Amino acid sequence: MTVQSSQFNGPSAPNESELASIARVLHEHAGIVIAPGKGSMVQSRLAKRLRALGLNDYASYIALVTSEAGLDERRAMISALTTNVTHFFRENHHFETLRKEALPPLIARARAGAKVRIWSAGSSNGQEVFSIAMVLADLASDLASLDIRLLATDIDPHMIARGRDAVYDPATIDTIPQPLRRFLQAEERGWRIAPELRTLVTFRELNLHDSWPMKGRFDVIFCRNVVIYFDPAAQLRLWQRFEAALNPGGWLFVGHSERVPLGAQSALTTAGITTYRLKETGSKSGEAQWH
Ligand SMILES: C[S@@+](CC[C@H](N)C(=O)[O-])C[C@H]1O[C@@H](n2cnc3c(N)ncnc32)[C@H](O)[C@@H]1O
Repeated sequence: MTVQSSQFNGPSAPNESELASIARVLHEHAGIVIAPGKGSMVQSRLAKRLRALGLNDYASYIALVTSEAGLDERRAMISALTTNVTHFFRENHHFETLRKEALPPLIARARAGAKVRIWSAGSSNGQEVFSIAMVLADLASDLASLDIRLLATDIDPHMIARGRDAVYDPATIDTIPQPLRRFLQAEERGWRIAPELRTLVTFRELNLHDSWPMKGRFDVIFCRNVVIYFDPAAQLRLWQRFEAALNPGGWLFVGHSERVPLGAQSALTTAGITTYRLKETGSKSGEAQWH
């Protein structure tokens, strides 16, 4: 009976030393912190991986993900251990700020010939970036003729693939304001984002702790409910990099439990709940290019 359950369900929760080894790999490669005592969470998220590999103990799994040959499995482990929870129009007040304050001047600038670049960093399956795109398309019926582009990045390749597919379960559309549901198309698999919105968005796999290949700066950055999983030093480094990646007057939206420390070192100012803006003066503008 024991043999059967270990064969079919994988091993029980990792012990504290195994948990520490797994946490070390996750921290080193994704910057994510797992606290001691999270053994059962790790067990439930890695059970499928161990089963797929036919492994019955964490020692063998740890040996694999720390070996040179274990690169693919390390990526699969990171993917399994990331928290991808998201939903359309999550923290809706940010989308109200976008609609009323941030986007109208940016659309006006785009109509005058400027480029506008928006980044959803830690985008999960794309519901955040498509919420932005819906507000944008609602405000600008001439969007197709403007140079406004959105970038969505995530460390998890499965989330990037789902964003590119842009098909969502019917239950997920409940939080989309009724008038904006016109940007969805019914399909057998669920609701698909309309092509005119999909073409605005580029999805790319990116670990935020690595170097960023994008050149130029952004007018709006969403990085919400992502840095919460990182240690304080990594959080601070990222806030500074986001600040440097913004155009003057650019907007930074962060998650409900996240705060950017503002001080002498920062050119950001508070512009609403968990909303920041780069001061207009000081740095030069430059549009972001990623393709
Ligand atoms: C909880 S979701 C938040 C999604 C969305 N921003 C929102 O607020 O609804 C966090 C996302 O951050 C991604 N993530 C975690 N660590 C990351 C890293 N080091 N680089 C890039 N993305 C990361 C995860 O894969 C996950 O999809």
